[in-house]
Amino acid sequence: MPIIYIKDKRRFKLDTLTSSYIIDIFDGGYLLNIYYGKRIDEDRVERRLRMRNASFSPVDPKMGEGEFSPDSAPIEYGSDGAGDFRISALKICGDSGDSVTDIRYRSHKIYSGKPSIPDLPSTYVNSDDEATTLEICAADEIKGVEVTLVYTVFENYGVMTKSVRIKNVSDKCVKIERAMSLCNDFPTMDFDMITLYGRHAMERNVERRSLSHGLQGVSSNKGISSHCQNPFCALVSHGADEDNGEAYGFNLVYSGNFSIMAECDYNDSTRLVMGINPDTFSWNLSPDEVFYTPEAVSVYSYNGIGEMSRTFHRFYNNNLINGKYKRSERPILINSWEAAYFDIDEQKLLDFGRAAKELGIEMLVMDDGWFGHRNDDKSSLGDWFVNENKFKNGLSPFIDKVHDMGLKFGIWFEPEMISPDSDFYRAHPDYCVHASGRTPMIGRNQYVLDVSREDVRDAVWKQMDAVLSQNKIDYLKWDFNRYICDADSATLSKERKEEFYHRFILGTYDLMNRLKTNYPDILFENCSGGGGRFDPAMLCYSPQIWTSDNTDAIDRLKIQFGTSMCYPASSMGAHVSAHPKAPFSTRANVALWGSFGYELDVRKFTEEQKSQVKEQIADYHKYYDLIHYGELYRALSPFDGGDKAAWQFVSEDKSECLLTVVCLKEQSYERFIYKFKGLNAEFNYKDEESGKVYSGEYLTVFGLDLRNEVNHLYGSKKWYLKKM
Ligand code: GLA
Repeated sequence: MPIIYIKDKRRFKLDTLTSSYIIDIFDGGYLLNIYYGKRIDEDRVERRLRMRNASFSPVDPKMGEGEFSPDSAPIEYGSDGAGDFRISALKICGDSGDSVTDIRYRSHKIYSGKPSIPDLPSTYVNSDDEATTLEICAADEIKGVEVTLVYTVFENYGVMTKSVRIKNVSDKCVKIERAMSLCNDFPTMDFDMITLYGRHAMERNVERRSLSHGLQGVSSNKGISSHCQNPFCALVSHGADEDNGEAYGFNLVYSGNFSIMAECDYNDSTRLVMGINPDTFSWNLSPDEVFYTPEAVSVYSYNGIGEMSRTFHRFYNNNLINGKYKRSERPILINSWEAAYFDIDEQKLLDFGRAAKELGIEMLVMDDGWFGHRNDDKSSLGDWFVNENKFKNGLSPFIDKVHDMGLKFGIWFEPEMISPDSDFYRAHPDYCVHASGRTPMIGRNQYVLDVSREDVRDAVWKQMDAVLSQNKIDYLKWDFNRYICDADSATLSKERKEEFYHRFILGTYDLMNRLKTNYPDILFENCSGGGGRFDPAMLCYSPQIWTSDNTDAIDRLKIQFGTSMCYPASSMGAHVSAHPKAPFSTRANVALWGSFGYELDVRKFTEEQKSQVKEQIADYHKYYDLIHYGELYRALSPFDGGDKAAWQFVSEDKSECLLTVVCLKEQSYERFIYKFKGLNAEFNYKDEESGKVYSGEYLTVFGLDLRNEVNHLYGSKKWYLKKM
């Protein structure tokens, strides 16, 4: 059994493919976080109660003077104010006004399968035998709250998920001030922390720092997960690299304000907490009401950071991404944005479509600019009806023409926004997010629509539904182009104002659910000025996300390397654009590492480019499964400052391999012997280009000398090897 309860020790042991996790019910009902690390078969793990230097830390008098201090013990779900001074996972303010919170074990249950979380996206099981769940119910008797810690382990991966349910069992209202999804106490602080920082058009750069005493971490308070930090963090052993060392990866299935904090204390131990950002959150819970935290995903690898990432990729492809396009091939698209920006009309798009179809492109996506009177970014968000100056006969006849060409058709929306210059705003000025008495800030000339309100969601959905039900639409790009401030909603009482940000994101999820439920066949791509909302929660709704507004292939290397820390290739929208820095072939080689498409004026291709495009499209089809569902090896990272960047995909059955190398220096003739990774030593592989045959062992141990292959600035090359 992947989860067992050892009765005489009052101990839970949770095993995944790679890891074990041990929780003890200690005296007094304290829940202790005894072990998380490499899978172990025995259960005789010592409790480390870490008493060192704890003389100032209060002890629980019921447990004997000097015996036990919550401050120096590894606590499973640390709470505020009852003797544990480290950053806490839980803080609840009761009717008496104090926020001392102390939860103790009450009961537990273990069952097959995995529960979903009401109103929140989460990972899922395809069948109940894939996972086992443990629910531990703990309670603060004084406050009258029950806190249920929910753990699910997946036996086929090194993956565990955690979430928390808080129920008010008292007869008074309580206020939740912190409710983190994950709390982990490690007995050491010998870790590096890896996080993904960035900005618009340069998302998810890899940043690595050694943990030090005190607090450190990342967060968002921008209303969305944001370009600037991602809800991901890894704790890795010092010196861990792609192939060696321990790596714990943590990812929050949430798109709103988040916080990931590590605190290293006087015992040189580390507590990591991850969840909704408590700085911008509180939640009033009436009697009998339940609050659900988002889910946190934990991955453990003892084979380095690369294996941690591959575990996330496998898991997300099978247990997060869902719907029609989970496994079926997604059409190659041409998007109008970088080709025409707002300057689109029926004729121009039909010309794009005709030119694209000839080359083998499969879908035309009409980006921003088709609705209201939108000719720039100053108007019309919220007016989701066609601009009849641009589409004289309306949308349907135009879309029919696109379909008649044999192309699929996609459309752009930005549902959670409203332009001051729109009929929608003029009719409902109160629909925008604003704090009472203040003029709201404006971003990209737009306000945020208060989708925490159901009436507002109904109003915007009514418009979207009209477009989607009256037209045959195959794809929808859902954008979100500014951060949220002036956080308030007219419908929230004074006590509930801090609920706004979480209610907003619940509103977004509700809207996305409406889309998915009513239009399950639409291929849905998320976007937020590129990758401003690139998080696992969004992948529950859309199988792919536009990775970045930066389509320069060389900049994209860093963005894609960083994104791949936990997100699979199948989730990354990647297009060939007109950005001239890298040669056309390199632009395609880089974009192939993702959900592939084009974003430039296809009418302007030279004959040579046209024949290249045909080859690129053939490549996309040929390598689709290998790249989307294969195993990624980040061979040479652009963050390392070397001459080259390289990455490799190996198919699940190890019968195919694709290596791509991009040169990052002007003249690069240095020794470059590439030792392949992830191959089966006993297979023979044929290099498609040279026709030479090598054993997997040879390719892995000796490697191939590629020094004369890719040596001009931004040049690139692919090698495809197939089992004989
Ligand atoms: C955002 C997106 C772009 C494009 C524009 C349209 O910036 O990331 O791809 O859709 O909006 O305004």
